[in-house]
Amino acid sequence: MQSILSPYQLGAVTLTSRIAMAPMTRARAKDLKPDTLTATYYAQRASAGLIITEGIAISRQARGAIYIPGIYTPDQIDAWKQVTAAVHAKGGIIFAQLWHVGRAGHVAHNDGQPPVGPTNERANAKTFAFDANGNGTLLPQSTPRQLRADEMDGLVEDYAQAARAAMAAGFDGVEIHGANGYLIEQFINGALNTRSDSYGGSIENRMRLPLAIIDAVAAAAGPDRTGIRVAPFGRFNDMHAFADEAQTWLAFAQALSTRKLAYLHLSDQESLGADKLSVDFAVEMRRAFGGTVLIAGGFGLESGQAAIDTGRCDVVAIGRPFISNPDLIERYRNGWPIAPFDPRTFYGGEGAAFYTDYPTYPESI
Ligand SMILES: Cc1cc2nc3c(=O)[nH]c(=O)nc-3n(C[C@H](O)[C@H](O)[C@H](O)COP(=O)(O)O)c2cc1C
Repeated sequence: MQSILSPYQLGAVTLTSRIAMAPMTRARAKDLKPDTLTATYYAQRASAGLIITEGIAISRQARGAIYIPGIYTPDQIDAWKQVTAAVHAKGGIIFAQLWHVGRAGHVAHNDGQPPVGPTNERANAKTFAFDANGNGTLLPQSTPRQLRADEMDGLVEDYAQAARAAMAAGFDGVEIHGANGYLIEQFINGALNTRSDSYGGSIENRMRLPLAIIDAVAAAAGPDRTGIRVAPFGRFNDMHAFADEAQTWLAFAQALSTRKLAYLHLSDQESLGADKLSVDFAVEMRRAFGGTVLIAGGFGLESGQAAIDTGRCDVVAIGRPFISNPDLIERYRNGWPIAPFDPRTFYGGEGAAFYTDYPTYPESI
């Protein structure tokens, strides 16, 4: 039996434990880039085996909500350097999550230009955007513009550019955000992606753009420093069930298996209202992929250990508890109590409050 608190070799990097901090958007980047507080926030959590950052916009077009940091201008790339340096100074390892929301955006984010997706079908979902009075609020997502086939190479290049930028900013690797109903999942979803060209319809065609993106990112960052996150059977952002859903995800895992990536990250969407990812399906995905698998969704120390023991994964990603416990790993190692999180504090906010002001356990007693 492998202890969840024992080291693990993940592609090119050695983790001090098999617990990763799951990617979590905090919507605090008023200037669309990280600041010194962001650096402090991640450095405080550097004892995680691996930190996966909040979703980072790969381009202006990729943005889907307000106050999301990007990595597409020199200024933003420079700003990320203080974050990676702060984490490395504490001995941590940090991957950048590369994010394009696809259709799940709003005209307000892109000078009135609509978001883009595999089709022009609007999601029955909302996103944070500025209303006509400049107030940030939850608004229905805008009707997207269908991407033309001749735009795909440019999109792939945006991802490659972001991966190069992440490595230049000092990240140890990148995670491609292929979950939660954003661009990549929109192409994979057979109910939504009904395109009649080579980017839609059959499983092979629906995987074409995602695989091209993965190959370009892996070429830029190194395959052993590239992971991808997916959420099979996820329903977030109006993703509907489709006929060959299990077959599609298994084919995707199989297609990834030859690419020798650092990891495949399975995100269980039960906390977002989907069915729980079954143990059997996770095991099947792990078998099809044949490499390191991360799993996320409602895990703690014991349930995470059980996920490893039942062959679902090699590394467990934990999200919300890391918000309120910067020293989550030390708490697990010492059997100390875990501080509860408060969902009202997850997104937005000013200054240190509910961001960098959570005490470590010894400080709190
Ligand atoms: C505040 C918040 C922000 C999140 N942002 C992201 C994100 O940027 N990218 C992503 O892939 N998942 C995101 N997630 C999902 C988490 O990575 C994780 O899968 C989810 O919280 C379930 O894991 P947990 O039960 O350990 O928190 C977010 C979740 C929360 C609570």
